[in-house]
Formats: sequence, C-alpha cells, structure tokens
Amino acid sequence: MLNWRSKYLLIFYLLTLSGLIFLFFHINLLEWQGHNTFGPSNIHPVGPSPLKGKQSFYRHLGQESSPEEALKESYILESIKWPGLPDQPTPTPLEWTSDPAHSFFVIMPMDAGRAPHVGDQLEAWVIINDFKGRTKSYGGDFLIARLHSPELGAAVAGQLLDHKNGSYTVIFPLLWEGSVQVEVTLVHSSEAIHYLHSLRISGQDRVFYKSVFRSGPLSETTVCNLHLPASEQPVCDYTDIKTGEPWYCYKPKQNLSCESRINHSWGSYPTNLLTQNETLLFQGGVNIKARIHARGSHSVTVLPKDKDKPSAESISGKGAPTKFRPSGYYLNWSWRLLSGVVVREFNPAAITQCLKGKQMHIYGDSTARQYYEFLTSFLPELKDFDLKSTKKAGPFLAVDVGNNIMLMYSCHSPPIAWDPISVPQLRSVADQLDGLVGGPDTVVIISVWAHFTTFPVEVYLRRIRHIQRAVMRLLDRAPETLVVVRSANLRIQNPEMSPIFSDWYSLQMDVVVKAMFRDVNVFLLDAWEMTVAHHLPQNIHPQPPIIQNMINTILSHLCPEKK
Ligand SMILES: *[C@@H]1O[C@H](CO)[C@@H](O)[C@H](O)[C@H]1NC(C)=O
Ligand SMILES: *[C@@H]1O[C@H](CO)[C@@H](O)[C@H](O)[C@H]1NC(C)=O
Ligand SMILES: *[C@@H]1O[C@H](CO)[C@@H](O)[C@H](O)[C@H]1NC(C)=O
Ligand SMILES: *[C@@H]1O[C@H](CO)[C@@H](O)[C@H](O)[C@H]1NC(C)=O
Ligand SMILES: *[C@@H]1O[C@H](CO)[C@@H](O)[C@H](O)[C@H]1NC(C)=O
Repeated sequence: MLNWRSKYLLIFYLLTLSGLIFLFFHINLLEWQGHNTFGPSNIHPVGPSPLKGKQSFYRHLGQESSPEEALKESYILESIKWPGLPDQPTPTPLEWTSDPAHSFFVIMPMDAGRAPHVGDQLEAWVIINDFKGRTKSYGGDFLIARLHSPELGAAVAGQLLDHKNGSYTVIFPLLWEGSVQVEVTLVHSSEAIHYLHSLRISGQDRVFYKSVFRSGPLSETTVCNLHLPASEQPVCDYTDIKTGEPWYCYKPKQNLSCESRINHSWGSYPTNLLTQNETLLFQGGVNIKARIHARGSHSVTVLPKDKDKPSAESISGKGAPTKFRPSGYYLNWSWRLLSGVVVREFNPAAITQCLKGKQMHIYGDSTARQYYEFLTSFLPELKDFDLKSTKKAGPFLAVDVGNNIMLMYSCHSPPIAWDPISVPQLRSVADQLDGLVGGPDTVVIISVWAHFTTFPVEVYLRRIRHIQRAVMRLLDRAPETLVVVRSANLRIQNPEMSPIFSDWYSLQMDVVVKAMFRDVNVFLLDAWEMTVAHHLPQNIHPQPPIIQNMINTILSHLCPEKK
C-alpha cells in the first residue's frame, strides 16, 4: 500500500515524465523543421548565443519552475489541450466541416416538466452538422454562448461542454426573472481550429520584429524575435537577466555593437498564411462567428425564485454535469459580481474620492492602456503629464496634485508589437513590479495577453509565471496592495486576422492567466465573460460602456460600499 505521500510523488513523477515526453517530442519536431526550413545544421551562428533552428524556444525556458509550479502548469496545459481531429484526409473537404447554418440548438426542459425559476440552471443542447446536414462525429468546435434579456439589459455568458461527438451542452445560471433568450455562436469550426493549432505549434513566424542600431554616423536595422533561425549571421542576445526569457536580434553587419540597439518595433505580419482551401474555413458570416439557430423556441420565461427550494446550490438542471458559476452578469448593462462584492457606479467625483491619496500602476498591452485613457478623459483634475512618449507605448503619467492621485501606464516588454519603443523603456512587468513598494494606497492593474497569440502557449505561460511570482513578492512585502489581473477578451475575426489573432488563441491564454492567478490574492477581472455576455460588437478594445463597467468593478474592490 502506498501512503498519500508516495502516491502524490508517483503522480508527480508521472506528470513530469509525460511533460518531458511532450517536450522531447516538440524539440524533435522543431529541430526537424529547423533543418528543413533553415538549411543544414553545420551552419552555426557565431554570436553570443548559438541557436539551432527554433529549439531556442524550449532551450531558454527562463527560470526553472518549482515542482509545485510544474505540476500546476502541466494540469493547465492538459486542460487546454486540443483533442485533434480523427484520421481523415487533410485538408478536410469543406462539405465535411462544421456548418452553423445546418447546425441547431434546443433548450432542454427542466426536471419533471417544472417551470424555470431564478436559481435554476438552464441547459441547451447544440448539434453541429456539416455542410451536407450530417451530424459531426467528433468535437473540438469553438462555440460561445450567452443568455440575455435585451429589454432588461441583462446578460450572462454560458459554459460549454464538448461531448466529442458533434453535440455540446451549454449551461446558463438563471439569475433574473422574465423572458430570456439563448444565443449560440460558432467562432471557428473544429477543422479551422485544427489549422490554427498546427500553426501555433509549428513555430512559424506570424509577426516580424525589428530593431534599430545606431552609433555615431552608423545606423542599421535588423530582424529580431524570440527565436531566430540559424544562419551565418551572428545574433545579439537580449535575454531578460531577471526572468531568463529570450529575445534576440541579428547583429548589425556594420561595426555596430549589440549595445548600440536603440529601438524595438513591430515589422510586419505575414499575409499568406492561408492556402486557398484553408480560406474556405474562415468565411465571415459562414463559419466565422456565425449564429446557430434554435430548433423550437430560443427563449423561456424565468419565474421568481422558488420559495420551496432551499438554496440555488442544490438545484441543477437535468443531467447537468457540473454547477456552472460565472464570475458575473449584466443587469441594466451594469456588471454584477457573484463573488459577493457589490459593484457600484462611480461618477467622476466618486472616482476621485476613491482614488484620493492613491497611486495606480497599469501595466501591459493596449487593453491595459484603455483604463489609463478612460480615467484621464473622465476625471477633469487628473492631468496627463507630457513625457513626450510615443502614442501607443507610453510610458504615461497623470497626476491630480490637489487630491494626491498618481496614475501611470507602461507597456510590457517584447514580444510587444508596436511602433518604435526606445530600448531603455523595454522593462518587463515583473521587473517593474519588483520596483514597487506597494501598500494600501497602491493599485496595480495588469493586462498581458494580446501580443502572445503568435507564439506557442508555453511562451505565454512562462511570461505569466514570472509576473505571478513578482505579484507574490509584492503581496508578501505589502499585502494590502490591490492587484487586479485582467483576462483576455474576444475580438473581430476574419481570414486575415484569425491565423494571427484568433479568439481561440486568446481563449487558451484566458484559461492560463485565470488558472495561474486563481490561488493568488488578486482580483481577477473576467474580461472574457464581460465581452461574451455584452451586446456590443466584440473588439480588441472593448467599447467605453464595457470599460466603464470594468472601472466600476475595480473601484468597487478598492472602495467597497460602507455598510
Ligand atoms: C483543395 O481542395 C480540393 C477539393 O477539395 C482538392 O482537390 C485539392 O487537392 C486541395 N488542395 C490542397 C492543396 O490540398
Ligand atoms: C453524444 O454524447 C452525449 C454525452 O455522452 C450523449 O448523451 C449523446 O447521446 C451522444 N450523441 C450521439 C449522437 O451519440
Ligand atoms: C569598430 O568600432 C570600434 C569602436 O567603436 C573601433 O575601435 C574599431 O576600430 C572599429 N572597427 C572598424 C573595422 O571600423
Ligand atoms: C439603468 O441605468 C440607467 C443609466 O445607466 C439609469 O438611469 C436607470 O435608472 C437604471 N435603471 C434601473 C432599473 O436601475
Ligand atoms: C526610435 O524610437 C523613437 C521613439 O521612441 C522614435 O522617435 C524614433 O524615430 C525611432 N528611431 C528610429 C530610427 O526608428
């Protein structure tokens, strides 16, 4: 008999082993691709860090994970693992692929034919058919669902369960009374996901970066990335000293040293990522973000909470495998949390009152910058200090001297893909967090995800691990600091965007960032649910009403209602 400790160790070793096998497989795969794409392996760069093909991805894994981290991360990666398609000719002929127009959903009746009440759970059954109307025999489609009452401004995101046989269950908690409508959307077919998945693990470049080097009269621009193909050209190694995260540029051909790099910027996106056949899987309105229709009614009437039923927790719809608990829902288009924290509406005066004497540090991509922009335009006394920064990257600083409020924004380090950013301003979020004293008057908002869609998810996981560690150090030295971590959101999809910025890539990151911070004392702002549930069109930059709801939610944590 094994005691619990050895059982735990056994499970851990098995997981580590499977992780190593996974890694081994990928290293081999990448090595093989490296050889094919970039020529014979006897050509080695002579720069500071010899790279062979794209294995540098995996060779420079940054700081080592602790056993607990490694275990947790292997669970996370397992939970987002793409099940794959069954053996069949690839590319799958279009007529065999998922067709929203031929697919449908039905709302399931409640147990014993009773009427749905607030506190119950509603289920819908989704059947995905192909273009010939035949039910698919496998799963993997990417669906989103919401339940809404337009006249009440009420909406909540649904949870999806893949039965892996062409059918899916959607679960919605019933949180308000009245007529509610079910809405189901196919974002991508499983065949499109198959393609997006292959693209992501292939390591194929889906964004190009460059840097300017300059010294005296000499100036030269070279190509940069997380990994660079082996060639005769030497490279400069800009691997982050603190986190060990890699970044490289080709060394200039002229007499310019690696230290003479002055700018980092985005170069271009490749345009030929889809073959003619693959574009058929990414047709707007056909199989990208296309509505699935109801068979029968798409709405039900929800009655007030049933007094006879003791608690909502004990009620579950017919055959519901789990009780789904979203993080919140809209009512009158105001976001409400199910965690118990009451979300209030903050007008400019109330925001100023709440932020009085506080410093707010916002880090990340443009979805983080939206909070800076919202607050500086909403609060008349919060004045933007002109740091002469570039429009996108910042850094930005705003102060309200009278109320002793400071607001700052700075972007995350590469792979940020923007217009030129000066090299001294490329600081990792982890490094900047390590520079914060923290305390009850410090608020930190972090949103890092949108620039990681073009890399394998492990690259994102590694970045989040380093940010999470820095957050834990901050909370260790200053436990009263409010740290807000914002998750990913949905955006416009089309044949040009999807191979680079698919919502499916963002969904994987959404799961990763939520799981990595679940046990940390931070407030997780669920941007995913807030954008799935809202009626406004999905956009990389959620529209002002959603941003205002996010600000209200954050400030409700900072300044809870006084009882
Ligand atoms: C594209 O699809 C057609 C018809 O389904 C097929 O005959 C052809 O081989 C495909 N092309 C490629 C490059 O796979
Ligand atoms: C698909 O799987 C679900 C859950 O296991 C099952 O209830 C359903 O009958 C299956 N559908 C088909 C067509 O086999
Ligand atoms: C390259 O630059 C260094 C210092 O800037 C200088 O000492 C050296 O002579 C230069 N070499 C050539 C070949 O110009
Ligand atoms: C709904 O919101 C609007 C403005 O956002 C407000 O004027 C109105 O009173 C709200 N209605 C309810 C029922 O809360
Ligand atoms: C470098 O970036 C700065 C902004 O940080 C910009 O003003 C400048 O034009 C850039 N230089 C080059 C050569 O791209």
